[in-house]
Amino acid sequence: MESLKEEKLNKIKAECTDCKKCELGKTRKNIVFSDGNPEAKILLIGEAPGAEEDATGIPFVGRAGKLLTKLIEDCGLSRKNDFYICNTVKCRPPENRVPTDSEKQLCQNFLLNQIKAVNPKVIVLCGATSAKSFLGSKIKISQIRGSWFKILDDINATVIFHPSYLLRNHSELEGSPRWLTKQDLLKIKDFIN
Ligand code: URA
Repeated sequence: MESLKEEKLNKIKAECTDCKKCELGKTRKNIVFSDGNPEAKILLIGEAPGAEEDATGIPFVGRAGKLLTKLIEDCGLSRKNDFYICNTVKCRPPENRVPTDSEKQLCQNFLLNQIKAVNPKVIVLCGATSAKSFLGSKIKISQIRGSWFKILDDINATVIFHPSYLLRNHSELEGSPRWLTKQDLLKIKDFIN
């Protein structure tokens, strides 16, 4: 039987599937709602679907997603069990451009309702788009990643580099962006345990 949480999330997903509030609704193949475990303690928010996500309806399944999954697993966490994964906007922006303020705003209630339904212990803001949505447009990821905040009244949140950035930065040496991201994920693991 469907839990109350699943029922709430399915309702939000159905509303999202019908949404044509912005231009992205006209060009998407699929809405990309979520992946992972609605009972997870960690809710991760990315930017927006890319081509593979648009084709499959699943977030973070392309190259960046595969790297994110590897980093999560390298830290002894499970993408499937420990994370509920979603995006700032649910439809793919053409040519993978950054979503506009208006697109983010029109999509925001879906995200806020998702967060409320999942009720995570920690929110991971993955990359600049999601971090700016909650922490203000002036933030710089390299300055605030690894820091912890309270958002939406009282939910713990932290910031990590976006895996697309890490795809362009291969080094795993101490102090490198990939190394820092693993440290950030290990802190998140400590926090939920
Ligand atoms: N990048 C994102 O931010 N989200 C996805 O789902 C895929 C790539």
